[in-house]
Amino acid sequence: MNYKIAVIKGDGIGPEIVDEATKVLEVIGEKYGHSFAFTNVLMGGCAIDATGVPLPDETVKICKESDSVLLGAVGGPKWDTLPGHLRPEKGLLGIRAALGLYANLRPAVLYAPLKDACLLKPETVQDGLDILIVRELTGGIYFGERGRRDGKNGPEAYDTECYSVPEIERIAHVAFEAARKRKKKLASVDKANVLESSRLWRETIHRLAKDYPDVECRDVLVDNAAMQLVRDPGQFDVLVTSNMFGDILSDEASMITGSIGMLPSASLGKGKLGLYEPTHGSAPDIAGQGKANPIATIISAGMMLRYAFDLQTEADAIDAAVLSVLKKGLRTPDIAGVGGQNKPLTTTEMGDAIRAELRA
Ligand code: IPM
Ligand code: MG
Repeated sequence: MNYKIAVIKGDGIGPEIVDEATKVLEVIGEKYGHSFAFTNVLMGGCAIDATGVPLPDETVKICKESDSVLLGAVGGPKWDTLPGHLRPEKGLLGIRAALGLYANLRPAVLYAPLKDACLLKPETVQDGLDILIVRELTGGIYFGERGRRDGKNGPEAYDTECYSVPEIERIAHVAFEAARKRKKKLASVDKANVLESSRLWRETIHRLAKDYPDVECRDVLVDNAAMQLVRDPGQFDVLVTSNMFGDILSDEASMITGSIGMLPSASLGKGKLGLYEPTHGSAPDIAGQGKANPIATIISAGMMLRYAFDLQTEADAIDAAVLSVLKKGLRTPDIAGVGGQNKPLTTTEMGDAIRAELRA
C-alpha cells in the first residue's frame, strides 16, 4: 500500500526526532512492502519565520489531503513574546481544530526495563503503570471566548470554559470504547463542585454510562485526581477529561513514569485522519545537540500504523524493536540514569539501533 503522510517537523528538537521516525517508517516500508510518501509542511515558530503565521493555509490543505500527519513539536523562547494569535502554540491548536481532532489519547506507560526511572516508590507502583488519558482537544477554555477589557480595578483579562452536550458525548464515547478494550475502568475527571461546565460534563457522562454497563465508571474531582495519580496511580485505567485538565494531568502522569521522552500520543477525529506526536515538547535547550530521545516520536509513528492504517504487525514490530533496544541497555541521556550503559547514545544512534532491530 501507498500512504501519504504530512510531516510537521516544527521547532526545537522536532526536526531531529521526526527524522528518526520517518527513517523507521522507511525500514517498515522496505520490510513489509509499503511505501510512505512524506510531504514536509511548516507549522509553529518555523512557519512564523518563513511566512509570518504559525499555521499557513498550505499546511492545513496538505494535511487534509494526506492519509495521516506526523508531528514533532512546536515553540521556543524566540517566539515567546509574540501576541497570542501569532504564537507557535496557536498553530498546534489551529491544526487540531482544522482537522476536527477532538480526541487526544495519551498513554502513560512504565516500560519494564525503565522501571527504576519511575519517580514513585516501588511499593506505590507495584506492577507498573499503564494509564490512558483521553483528553478533549478542540473545546473548553483553550477555544472559548477570551479577551481583555476595562474592569473595576483597571485592565482585566478573561477566558471562558464552555462545553456543549455533543462535545462531551463524542469524547465520552471514545473513552468508554477505549476502556472496553482495556481493564474496563473509567474515571471521569471534572470540577463539578465548582464549575457549571463540569456539572453538565458529569450529567452527560452518567447518562452515557448506562450504555456501557460493562465499564465501571466513576467521577473524580480534578484536584483529587492530581493527588491520586501520585498516591496510587495503579487505581486508574482510563481517565477522560476536558482540554485543560487533560493537558495538566497528562504531563503529570507521563512524568510519573520517569520517561516523558518515551510517550506517544494520537489525536483523532471522526474519520481516519489523525495527528501523531510525542507527548513531550520542543525542548529548545537541547535542540540540535543530538541529545533528544526519538523514541516517543518513533512509537507515535507506530501508533499511526496501528490506528490510521490498521497495520498491526508493523506497529507491533516497532514496539518490539524499541523494547529490545531498551532491554539491551541502550539509552539516550534522558533515561541514561537507569540500568543503561555508561555512554548514552545520540538521537541518531538510538534511531539506528531501533532500525537495526527491525531489520534483524
Ligand atoms: C500539549 C501542549 C499544547 C496544549 C500547547 C503547546 C498548546 O501543552 O499538547 O499538551 O496545551 O495542548
Ligand atoms: Mg501540554
